Amino acid sequence: MDIQPAMVFVTGATGFTGPYVVEALLAAGESVRCLVRETSQADFLVQRNIPIVEGDLERPDGLVEAIQGADALVSVSPIRFAPSLVAACQQAGVTRGVFLSSTWRFSKVRTPDVEAVSSGEEAVEASGMEATILRPTMIYGPGNDRNLSLLRDYLGKRSILPIFGSGENLVQPVYVTDVADAVVAALLRSGTIGQVYELAGGEPLTYTAMVDTLSHLMGRTVVKVYVPLFVAVPLIGLYGKLTRNPAVRVDQVKRMAEDRAFDISRAEKDLGFAPKSFSVGMREAMQINGEL
Ligand SMILES: NC(=O)c1ccc[n+]([C@@H]2O[C@H](COP(=O)([O-])OP(=O)(O)OC[C@H]3O[C@@H](n4cnc5c(N)ncnc54)[C@H](OP(=O)(O)O)[C@@H]3O)[C@@H](O)[C@H]2O)c1
Repeated sequence: MDIQPAMVFVTGATGFTGPYVVEALLAAGESVRCLVRETSQADFLVQRNIPIVEGDLERPDGLVEAIQGADALVSVSPIRFAPSLVAACQQAGVTRGVFLSSTWRFSKVRTPDVEAVSSGEEAVEASGMEATILRPTMIYGPGNDRNLSLLRDYLGKRSILPIFGSGENLVQPVYVTDVADAVVAALLRSGTIGQVYELAGGEPLTYTAMVDTLSHLMGRTVVKVYVPLFVAVPLIGLYGKLTRNPAVRVDQVKRMAEDRAFDISRAEKDLGFAPKSFSVGMREAMQINGEL
């Protein structure tokens, strides 16, 4: 550890990963100031007497004043907001930043959201900031991670699970505290400036193996029904047209045919990244939830 910023400005503190990042920063001895929206669930920040500033990255007026005086930015909000954030940092004289991006960047299923990840990273790289970009895969953990918590809820109620595609493609979900620890390590290690790291779990596993691990931990017997993509894509497309808030989108189904496993050796070396395996992380999440 060779940098010690005193005051870190955090965006996205009130999402799923944000509170873990704030805790990890405080544990490392940092002071934190957080940007929250009017609608954000910021009680935990208020209870901890953590300074908050109200603002919305969609309308970044006031952002320069909010960042002023900070030594570094940690962006846990979606990377699509990077253009506004780097502009405000430049005006406020904040040069150091750690940005959470996403391995979505590598998806061949191009959607506006994926393009926004790429252009967010480009804005960071073009900014001249002393920046580190971290790209997590699917993040999971205790509570409502909106990823595997949804699958757990589903498996808790039903014993038949449709799996789109072969189930043989690789996934490598990453545990939320491993992401938070990596953010702090990136911030405090000057060797990470200008670098980009993929953050994935301890080992890749097939989607089927992930479901099997989960159902085993839950003590559930699940019948897996494999739906070929040439059937699933048009069906989910039709469902998407008929439903206002579809539970599954076509791009998500198409991504089931992509391997989402990543080389974490650079993060291991530079960040001391030592992520939990899926079975260990999921067991811990379920224990914290009181499900085990
Ligand atoms: N979850 C994953 O599986 C995953 C995978 C790869 C990468 N990532 C990236 O990792 C980061 C953390 O993910 P997450 O799932 O923990 O995120 P999240 O739960 O969706 O939280 C997003 C955070 O950004 C804030 N935010 C969103 N729009 C904002 C705006 N217009 N102005 C100000 N703040 C705004 C949210 O504030 P509110 O509390 O007010 O909503 C929240 O605090 C994100 O950058 C995400 O893109 C996530």
